[in-house]
Amino acid sequence: MVRADTDSRHGMWSSRLAFILAATGSAVGLGNIWRFPYITAESGGGAFVLIYLLCVLVVGLPIMLAEIIIGRRGRQSPINTLRLLADESHASRLWTLIGWSGMLVGFMILSFYSVIAGWTLSYTTTYVGIIASGSAGLADPQATFGSLLSNPWTLLSWHSLFMVLTMIVVALGVEKGLERSVRILMPLLFALMLILVGYGMSTGYFKEALVYMFEPDFSRITPAVILDAMGQAFFSLSLGMAAIMAYGAYLPRSIPAGGTALTIGLADTGVALVAGLAIFPVAIANGLTTGGGGVGFTFTTLPHAFNVMSFGNWFGLAFFGLLAVAAWTSAISLMESPVAYLVERTRLSRPQAAVLVALGVWLLGIGTVLSFNEWSDYRLFGRNFQENMDFIASNILLPLGGLAIAIFAGWILSRSDTRDELHDMRSSTYALWRWLVRYLSPVLVFLVFLSAIGVLDLSSDEAAAPATEQTDSDSEVLLEDSAES
Ligand code: PHE
Repeated sequence: MVRADTDSRHGMWSSRLAFILAATGSAVGLGNIWRFPYITAESGGGAFVLIYLLCVLVVGLPIMLAEIIIGRRGRQSPINTLRLLADESHASRLWTLIGWSGMLVGFMILSFYSVIAGWTLSYTTTYVGIIASGSAGLADPQATFGSLLSNPWTLLSWHSLFMVLTMIVVALGVEKGLERSVRILMPLLFALMLILVGYGMSTGYFKEALVYMFEPDFSRITPAVILDAMGQAFFSLSLGMAAIMAYGAYLPRSIPAGGTALTIGLADTGVALVAGLAIFPVAIANGLTTGGGGVGFTFTTLPHAFNVMSFGNWFGLAFFGLLAVAAWTSAISLMESPVAYLVERTRLSRPQAAVLVALGVWLLGIGTVLSFNEWSDYRLFGRNFQENMDFIASNILLPLGGLAIAIFAGWILSRSDTRDELHDMRSSTYALWRWLVRYLSPVLVFLVFLSAIGVLDLSSDEAAAPATEQTDSDSEVLLEDSAES
């Protein structure tokens, strides 16, 4: 069915570039620079990276394209978009569950995301302090990180500040501040990462880092590692929770969706790989084992580099400042779909809806704040509160959401509907995409779940146990390390 172009009531992106930047702003975030390196380290390097790249290519990209065109066809918040398209296709309204689960996952992810983003704010101000006081650098990166984690009130303050910042932008409407800021800041972050890779090359450990990241050790591929890689692909590309679907709703129909999805996927993957190539040489050079990542990996590794680089403190300031911005643009996309939904369904204004959602997320975030200190001993399936939120959201709900989105795009929407959205695509590319979302992506996601069933219910033994050892007393272990040196 050929669709006429209409505008979304929430607003529209001004150009193809604006959409690419906003969606890349959503994709590039803590997932690339915080989560990717430490999960890679915990999963043993090469094998993980290889499977991660495969997941991006055969599962991630097709689902990203599916989310974009579903959103654009519906032009509303994901729940209402899915209801509309399901009705048009005479399918069950149960498909709106994708949107509901997306909202739930968005809440879960944002609740811990905001706490980690708070660390970036804290580090940014720390570097301001270092520069202002003229001191040499961050005296003891491990101790600094350890003391940050041990203080719930400090964590809570930064978490609160980050939530307020996110809330303000969403309340203002996404296009206004956002379009402009990502245009300058995303390229800047990328340039800075390249400089850090340059520094990594000069450490003399660049080759080791390359081998570590790209030499697949097939003996290390386990169902747990595959599940982690798939979860990371979904997390990093912002897929499976209808965030990109929400952004797709504001995309003019004149813009070709295929190339756009590819650009976003490549940019996101590029930043993750570059982050790894910046961090691992420094980790190896400083004897911080690449084997045990831990949630603090980025925060404890890079300051070592900043301490010895010329203008290192300025790099530290720029790096954590930009990481905060990258986290911010991602957090905004996590909040957009529940806010858009409330605006459509209730009498709340956008600012009111933003405050309500932010409050809910903030409350849930307190669990994450406490899981690094007061609650660090409370574990379920071998994981603390934050690790459980992350595991359930990223490794289970995002891939399941992605699976449902692929089925919806491949089997519920008719061929003529999706062809209408992708009319500017070459017919062979379109056929490939349709085959991927109909068969390969759903089957692969399903198979990963099947193979991981052992991981899912025996999580405390197989999957989580190694992670537990490392993250559990991460800061203490690192503290001991530094005490010895
Ligand atoms: N993709 C973001 C990151 O890599 C996180 C995110 C996940 C954002 C899901 C939106 C939706 O940091």
